Amino acid sequence: MEKIVIIGGEPLSGNITIGGSKNAVLPIMAACILTDEAVHLTNVPNLQDIQTMIKVLESLGVKSEISNLNQNQLTVCYENIDKNIAEYDLVRKMRASVLILGPLLARKKEASVSLPGGCAIGARPIDIHIDALKKLGAEFVLDRGYVNCKAPKGLKGNKIDLKKISVGASENIIMAASLASGESEINNIAIEPEVIDLIKCLKSMGSEIDFIGDRKILIQGKENLRGTTHNVIPDRIEAGTYMIAGALIGNNLKIQNIEPDHMQNILNVFEELEINFKLNKDSISLSKSDIEVGINLQTEEYPGFPTDLQAQIMVLLSKSNKQSSIIENIFENRFMHVPELNRMGAQISIEGNKSIISPSSELIGAPVMATDLRASVSLVLAGLISKGETIINRIYHIDRGYEEIEKKISQCGGNIRRMK
Ligand code: UD1
Repeated sequence: MEKIVIIGGEPLSGNITIGGSKNAVLPIMAACILTDEAVHLTNVPNLQDIQTMIKVLESLGVKSEISNLNQNQLTVCYENIDKNIAEYDLVRKMRASVLILGPLLARKKEASVSLPGGCAIGARPIDIHIDALKKLGAEFVLDRGYVNCKAPKGLKGNKIDLKKISVGASENIIMAASLASGESEINNIAIEPEVIDLIKCLKSMGSEIDFIGDRKILIQGKENLRGTTHNVIPDRIEAGTYMIAGALIGNNLKIQNIEPDHMQNILNVFEELEINFKLNKDSISLSKSDIEVGINLQTEEYPGFPTDLQAQIMVLLSKSNKQSSIIENIFENRFMHVPELNRMGAQISIEGNKSIISPSSELIGAPVMATDLRASVSLVLAGLISKGETIINRIYHIDRGYEEIEKKISQCGGNIRRMK
């Protein structure tokens, strides 16, 4: 099994270019099910999760045309869908496979998707997705681990109040309502930039979606949608991760191809921590900053601080000479990086969904275990500032969401390599 080996302490300088957003591409790929015309996507990251989504779509028996993922382009065309089942073997690899439920149901009037089950960061149910689709007239039966759903007369627009803000459920219902008959009013939707990017793509496919409140949209369902070309937004989580690397050990490190509007939540935290940065139109430059303040941070739905940067910011907070805390509000069991960071010398304790980060002396490299995508990359950040060698095992988690991480970091002077 591959490992990442890091010798810490080397400053990072030069440029890191951010790729397209994984969490924007995944729902947009699912949205391609809504049309029989080709959808051309640019700025697509070449990541394991994207490959898994391609397999999920291909498993539907769809003729898809996939080109040039190495040049970050993907063309998808679903002319004839003759299967409507997403199998367990694929769904268990990537929970986002459940995003095909809404579009498949809308297009085929029938869909069957394996329940994702638990994962490393908690139970992650799909009840909100199902309740919302039921409101459009879908019927659901649970059978041997699969949710089987159908809408023999097609989906019908309705008023839907999502009981909790969920990124995936918002995306599923927006896609389904786009091909339902009549109008849908959806309240309490997630407004993460990835959801907004999906809406942008759907609109260019002919969908009629309008915001009538901060978290409320109206959708006029259409009989057909058309193909389109869409340029995916930059990955704000990848950008935030490298921005944290810059604050930890940068020497004029420039992170380019970012969308500053999407980074406001982390920039606010950087300001509180008195970190120096220079923000430009689509890039930001940072150098190592000494941190003399402690903060109390909570993860929240966008525009709040993202749960997907919680593990990474924890590494930065551990370098402060004052105590900080982080409350994780989005996912249960999302502090699995804490014992690993503590093995490297961090002083972090956990009380329920709150972690207390106390000042620590220099971190010392150690063999550590990657547990999920974002936890793993926090270990990379910790390795970069630690004394000596850090060996990160189970790095397949990192490959799900970070394209060529060791190349991007080593080009900037970091001592990091992949080992078989
Ligand atoms: C998406 C992101 C993930 C990010 C998360 C929160 C993708 C592919 N993944 O995940 O990286 O961490 O948003 O920003 O975009 N919930 C329910 N029932 C449901 C659905 C969700 O109880 O039916 C709960 C979840 O367990 C969690 C919370 O709602 O506690 C938010 O989850 P959700 O926003 O749905 O996350 P995902 O879409 O799975």
